[in-house]
Amino acid sequence: MSTAPKAFVVGHPIKHSRSPLIHGYWLCEHGLKGSYERVDVAPADFASFLRGFQGEGFRGGNVTIPHKQAAFQYADALTGRAKRLQAVNTLWIEDGRIHGDNTDELGFIASLDQALGSDWDQAARTALVLGAGGAARAVIAGLLDRGLERVVVANRTLERAQELTAFDPRRIEAAAWDKLTQALPEADLLVNTTSLGMDGQPPLILDLIALPDHAVVADIVYVPLETPLLAAARARGLRVVDGLGMLLHQAVPGFARWFGVTPEVTPALRAVIVADIERRA
Ligand code: ATR
Repeated sequence: MSTAPKAFVVGHPIKHSRSPLIHGYWLCEHGLKGSYERVDVAPADFASFLRGFQGEGFRGGNVTIPHKQAAFQYADALTGRAKRLQAVNTLWIEDGRIHGDNTDELGFIASLDQALGSDWDQAARTALVLGAGGAARAVIAGLLDRGLERVVVANRTLERAQELTAFDPRRIEAAAWDKLTQALPEADLLVNTTSLGMDGQPPLILDLIALPDHAVVADIVYVPLETPLLAAARARGLRVVDGLGMLLHQAVPGFARWFGVTPEVTPALRAVIVADIERRA
């Protein structure tokens, strides 16, 4: 008798994760037996969690803050995109070994495609990315793979932005945080990957007047759904992309691996998560 597949999301803390709602929705939509559970594991216990999850009946799971780099270190096999980002957000067992992938890049680009139409890149030559952490690396990798000519990275700690240029020195430039408005006139796409604007954090206040009229403003923050940055962009008449699409799309490859069906990101799924964000606000 085969048991129903189980998957996890592991983090610390983990109780605010929306991933169980997303995967639970897809399990139900496809009439699949299976479960997707939150697991809270402190950093000191992460290595032993990895060694033990298969024995507890899990096929794999998602990895979130603060374990993405540790998962990269401990996985037995890595996809090319996980190696490139040096971080893992999706794990599964294959041939008895722990495999690690990173689906954040794919999630970000798919969210732009869904929100803007897949030809958004026609008018996008230069992107201005705010922040230089793990999320910025995924966003920048996606934009470079999509063929953008130039990415300017502005970060509070300039050295982190400068380190990121090693990714592709010909196409990435670092900018100091207090000089970022100088990069606005050439930005076809502005992406916030910092935590500014997130519930409980200070807002990201930027005068967007200097952005071109065709510019798109994206935020990877999704609580709240409309950040102060996106509200300002909307008021300026610009197209905006909120952070929920990235969360939904990055979940697709994991579900397909653990449960055997490739799910879709539909307006109905989005509405379920939006309702949860509003309920908990
Ligand atoms: P993640 O992996 O989720 O991207 P991270 O590595 O902690 O998380 O990165 C968070 C980003 O938000 C960084 O670019 C950080 O800037 P620093 O590199 O200077 O720390 C940025 N950030 C956080 N708080 C900020 C603030 N108050 N003002 C400007 N940038 C901020």
